[in-house]
Amino acid sequence: MSVYRIAANTQRTTRILEVRTESRTTKTLTFKDKECTKAKPGQFLMLWIPGIDEIPLSILDAKKDGTVSVAVKKVGEATQALHNKKTGDVIGVRGPFGNFFTLNEGEVLMVGGGTGIAPLLFLAKKLASKTKNLSFVVGAKTREELLFINELEKVCSEENVIATTEDGSYGIKCLATTPLESLFAKRKFNIIYTCGPEQMMRKVLDLAERHGIFLEASLERLMRCAIGICGSCILGKYRVCRDGPVFTASQLREVKSEFGISKRDFNGKRIPLE
Ligand SMILES: Cc1cc2nc3c(=O)[nH]c(=O)nc-3n(C[C@H](O)[C@H](O)[C@H](O)COP(=O)(O)OP(=O)(O)OC[C@H]3O[C@@H](n4cnc5c(N)ncnc54)[C@H](O)[C@@H]3O)c2cc1C
Ligand code: FES
Repeated sequence: MSVYRIAANTQRTTRILEVRTESRTTKTLTFKDKECTKAKPGQFLMLWIPGIDEIPLSILDAKKDGTVSVAVKKVGEATQALHNKKTGDVIGVRGPFGNFFTLNEGEVLMVGGGTGIAPLLFLAKKLASKTKNLSFVVGAKTREELLFINELEKVCSEENVIATTEDGSYGIKCLATTPLESLFAKRKFNIIYTCGPEQMMRKVLDLAERHGIFLEASLERLMRCAIGICGSCILGKYRVCRDGPVFTASQLREVKSEFGISKRDFNGKRIPLE
């Protein structure tokens, strides 16, 4: 069930407190926002860049001191404009929106790629006090694009983090899904949490089902209203902003003709996922 509240949908303006460069393409922005400090891992906010656009971003962290962080990858006009922002610049915030990951104890595996690592790192920080059996497979094309590796190794402990890069510039040279079969042979996981490129999550889903492991995946679709009204984020019978962004394996099976295969463009046309 979605946890959307009226107060969450009222836009607040705030100023950027800190801009941190994570890689050539990704920056972390931190600002104060009281509503979003109530966010749970997996939830997202809508960030308004005055004069440009409003875009959905996963919450990377929400602290008791009232600060909230998001990691932003530069892909187009709005994210480029956010990369140009400096400390003290004004932005608008709505949220937190959507559902969230369940907090499972026991043997936990996280599989993340790209900026999909952001909500998983937030989740890992919450779970670290509940379970010591937290493993993380993290993947990127290159070392430069491998985000938050130091934080992940701190939260999950170094021996529980498997890093993969497609070009072999860090960790194992392979896709993030490659080490999973051998991990499953060694350990019995209670749950897999995944977020990242959808084709990666589709493979993780197939493997999880083959091994009988419960799974939750966080999805992205075009979003405008973020409260289930406009239909921009439609995925089969679901509206990702309201029914997700976190979906279970059985929900994803219901939309298997689209999940990992296609999405809608700004005109509502179904297009293949890159
Ligand atoms: C729930 C959710 C969480 C997300 N979390 C993050 C995050 O933590 N960090 C991050 O960098 N990105 C995240 N995104 C993706 C981010 O919203 C898009 O990259 C951004 O909206 C692109 O805007 P743009 O103007 O820079 O690019 P555009 O030029 O508009 O588009 C570039 C690409 O981004 C996609 N895109 C454009 N607008 C949206 C939109 N409103 N919603 C989703 N995708 C869009 C397009 O399909 C296109 O492929 C998230 C998206 C969703 C739905
Ligand atoms: S973004 Fe409008 S229904 Fe989901």
